[in-house]
Amino acid sequence: MTRYTDPNYLLGQQYRDSSNLDARVALHERFSTNPQEWHPWVFDQFDLPATARVLELGSGPGWLWRNNADRIPAGWEVTLSDFSPGMVETAQAALAGCNANLRFERIDAQSIPFEDGRFDAVIANHMLYHVPDRPKALAEIRRVLKPGGRLFAATNGKEHMRELDTLIRAFNPAIIYEFASDANPFRLENGGELLGQFFAPVELRLYENDLHVTEVEPLVAYAFSMGSLSQGDLAGREDEFRTFVTAEMAKRGGAIDIDKHTGLFIAHKPA
Ligand SMILES: C[S@@+](CC[C@H](N)C(=O)[O-])C[C@H]1O[C@@H](n2cnc3c(N)ncnc32)[C@H](O)[C@@H]1O
Repeated sequence: MTRYTDPNYLLGQQYRDSSNLDARVALHERFSTNPQEWHPWVFDQFDLPATARVLELGSGPGWLWRNNADRIPAGWEVTLSDFSPGMVETAQAALAGCNANLRFERIDAQSIPFEDGRFDAVIANHMLYHVPDRPKALAEIRRVLKPGGRLFAATNGKEHMRELDTLIRAFNPAIIYEFASDANPFRLENGGELLGQFFAPVELRLYENDLHVTEVEPLVAYAFSMGSLSQGDLAGREDEFRTFVTAEMAKRGGAIDIDKHTGLFIAHKPA
């Protein structure tokens, strides 16, 4: 089992709290080339009725709702969930002042504790690649959706942030980069086929965006958010890595450009 789907690593270290994810999101928020941010774009794809029940799986610290707090219709009942208690706690605290009808639960996507046909929509953004028994999770999602309900599932492509992988491997070719995009088990290139075993039709909407990174520190923090690097090949070498990234940025005229490949699958449960 790779670290992508190792629950001991994911729950015990990587996602015990939101600090690793925070470092990665900070890079995207500060250096994205698309002026429309990711979470508002995702929210724009939810053409749901004014009254709807929505379940988010693997919601992390709840950014989707934090970044769209003033747009959540009063008639929506939204359950934010994650298998990491630390993530659920952070999401709940961050959204304490939000007037929308929000609930918070600890849920593993492979076993969803709700009755059949409860939800109009299930959201699983950048999380299905972490689920070891993905067919089980997809069967569970289909079960809890109403007939005609939809799964919204975001993920990345195999070329996503390739320049970052290349940069890290230029520092040390032996490095094992735990979330390397070409090892992503649920990606833009195969997600349609995997979802198609449970849903029809399945559509994919791409989000156009890249990174133009002009500061060293957020890139170093991003690399160090990966346990395989911070506790492995980069352990004790933070200054050396920082110096390396600084030199690479200077070589490229003061900015490192990183291409992103990200999109959202919309998978329908037949009516
Ligand atoms: C990359 S983060 C994405 C967080 C959030 N969806 C977002 O897009 O900002 C992946 C999240 O999925 C959660 N997760 C991983 N495996 C899970 C599982 N089997 N069931 C539920 N949540 C899981 C992690 O704890 C983490 O919060």
